[in-house]
Amino acid sequence: MQITPEKLFQKRREFIKLGVGSLVSSSLLASTLSALDFKEDLNKELELSPEELATNHVNFYEFSVNKAKAVRLAENFHTKDWKIEVSGAVNKPQTLTMEDILAFKLEERIYRFRCVEAWSMVVPWVGFELRALIDKLEPTSEAKFIKFTTLFDKERFADQAAFFPTLDYPYVEGLRMDEAMHPLTLMAVGMYKKPLKAQNGAPLRLVVPWKYGFKSIKSIVKIEFLKEQPKTTWELANPREYGFYANVNPKVDHPRWSQASERPLGKFFNQDTLLFNGYEKEVGHLYAGMDLRKYF
Ligand code: MTE
Repeated sequence: MQITPEKLFQKRREFIKLGVGSLVSSSLLASTLSALDFKEDLNKELELSPEELATNHVNFYEFSVNKAKAVRLAENFHTKDWKIEVSGAVNKPQTLTMEDILAFKLEERIYRFRCVEAWSMVVPWVGFELRALIDKLEPTSEAKFIKFTTLFDKERFADQAAFFPTLDYPYVEGLRMDEAMHPLTLMAVGMYKKPLKAQNGAPLRLVVPWKYGFKSIKSIVKIEFLKEQPKTTWELANPREYGFYANVNPKVDHPRWSQASERPLGKFFNQDTLLFNGYEKEVGHLYAGMDLRKYF
């Protein structure tokens, strides 16, 4: 759908204003996003998970480990004046606003998503390729890794304010530069043709469909380009169980449970888990010659 640049800008502003935390009805949000100039994924052979499940069966520890409680606490989360700070080995360090983010050409991508807890879903994300943002930022030749950080704000995230927080916050994640530049790697601002809900990582999250869900870090406020591989939150929390790579692999079991199969949200029966979550053809070459048991 094509609309004039002024209209588009106007719509983008509305999209920001109507984002998470507002009380505007979801149908209005939907119509706002449907007026946006984003390309729909024509690749529809995957059966979408019910939206209701994908937006309620969430992991967002900053709110709560309990999924229902996380959704409830996310209700009042606001993303007003959101900023993303870019630093490190990069020619153009800067602070991005959501206007800058929404200026990227948005498109819909229907991806499989596999959590290490052995449930899975198929989500129509709205976003843009991370490599488009990276190109704009111009990392230097020193940049071998990219690190992302989630907002740290004890007033907005109950678990960060807890006496014994569940994780060592802020939540951090990372990718090797070639993984970050892969065309499947997405920065998402929406799902199901609507802005992301707070519980799904508003206003901006990463989506890396061939890796376990914990790599897909939510509510990003910082992006750093690094020489060295960064330590990630789950690796720090439990290095025996979680690695930096976290590629979906039915043959490499989690120490406490098998990864051979998964239960799709809304389905009764398990299905076989696929190597690289079904994206082997696209990403297998990134790991040629690597022992996937060692680099798990
Ligand atoms: N990002 C942050 N900041 N905090 C989290 O607790 N959970 C991760 C990932 N990103 C998490 C996060 C995990 S374990 C999964 S499976 C996915 O988000 C879940 O995404 P969803 O809740 O949108 O399905």
